[in-house]
Amino acid sequence: MSDTATLATDMSNLWMPFTANRQFKSHPRMLAKAKGMYYTATDGHQVLDGTAGLWCVNAGHGRPEIIEALTRQATELDYAPSFQISHEDSFHAATAIADIMPAGLDRIFFTNSGSESVDTALKIALAYHRARGEGQRTRLIGRERGYHGVGFGGISVGGIAPNRKVFSGVLLPGVDHLPHTHDLSHNANSRGQPAWGAHLADELENIIALHDASTIAAVIVEPLAGSTGVLIPPKGYLERLREITERHGILLIFDEVITGFGRLGAATASECLGVTPDLITMAKGISNAAVPAGAVAVKRQVHDTIIEATSSGIEFFHGYTYSAHPMATAAVLATLGIYKNDGLFARAKAKSGVFENAAHGLETARHVIDVRNLGLVAGIELEPRKGAPGARASEVFAKCFDKGVMVRYTGDTIAISPPLIIEDAQIAQIFETLADVLKTVD
Ligand SMILES: Cc1ncc(COP(=O)(O)O)c(C=O)c1O
Repeated sequence: MSDTATLATDMSNLWMPFTANRQFKSHPRMLAKAKGMYYTATDGHQVLDGTAGLWCVNAGHGRPEIIEALTRQATELDYAPSFQISHEDSFHAATAIADIMPAGLDRIFFTNSGSESVDTALKIALAYHRARGEGQRTRLIGRERGYHGVGFGGISVGGIAPNRKVFSGVLLPGVDHLPHTHDLSHNANSRGQPAWGAHLADELENIIALHDASTIAAVIVEPLAGSTGVLIPPKGYLERLREITERHGILLIFDEVITGFGRLGAATASECLGVTPDLITMAKGISNAAVPAGAVAVKRQVHDTIIEATSSGIEFFHGYTYSAHPMATAAVLATLGIYKNDGLFARAKAKSGVFENAAHGLETARHVIDVRNLGLVAGIELEPRKGAPGARASEVFAKCFDKGVMVRYTGDTIAISPPLIIEDAQIAQIFETLADVLKTVD
């Protein structure tokens, strides 16, 4: 269907995720097509994709290489069971991912989403310690304002209050949280990694002192926190987390569902920032979002410990009907081929200077209290409207959409994360549109 008026009659059946359903249904925003950097809305107007969909269409929309791979795959092998049986591309896809992961993280477990990747990584951490005879290490440490998807594991280690509070009685036990790293009194308008805040990682020492290292399995953080409103890691912060976790035998998990696949100008944030965790969760850009896909990259030694703890039979009682689904592995292989052939990670890095300058051009715009950026991600934080947090950013989002630019917002922060194929003129268009819209918003 392409007509919102027609659709309005039967919108009631769909319960939309993370959406103000009643508001949306009274003013629907509907997309019909996508190609390259642009969506076409059902009313025919073009919308420049300033957010790569939901941080996921890193190679741009409608890539023929992916369409051909999916068409071929659907014809040849639509599905293969993932337990005790496999298909060739599941191994090729694992190898292709391992090839671009940090050295040592070369064992790949397939999932279908970021949430599943997070729950998988947390379970691997627990299984690892049990396999090495430290089954009492069951505590998981997340961080305030962290977003790790919507599974019970993910919301337990996550730190976004509205995502947790309705379910607070049944969250995982034994979870603690590091403080978040956002502080505008020190870091406002930082370009790249802010100078202040490495010491916030030292709070992990206090958490360890409280619970004792012997009870802690893993620490999970987003290297750059996206969904909470773009929090850039302070210089030295992730290094300290790495040093402390390593010293105490605690696994470090980087949730790279947003930062993986070129977003920061390298295959992973880990590579970009020079800090190697023990596990990396990924999804989104792994398949250019053409079909749902996700994975966890695991340090070989962690994998081997779990595998070798069992003398025969299934070593890890975990997996999904659609782990390494043939359509997903086809999309993953085609997507990774595009990233490589088109040099998109290097392109993202090369464009990050123009992007940074354009973003920071908004520092003096009306309502703006902070601009922050890294790679091809920018956060523009607005002063909240009195008594109506989020309302101003929501209005900016809607007006930008009407003016042909898709942005995202969380709270009062506008997030920009375009496909890595973006051109300079399109970067300018995003931030000029934002500047124009900010003038018109109270
Ligand atoms: C860091 C991070 N982890 C996990 C997720 C959850 O991914 P999904 O929505 O595919 O379950 C997201 C989604 O935005 C994310 O940003």
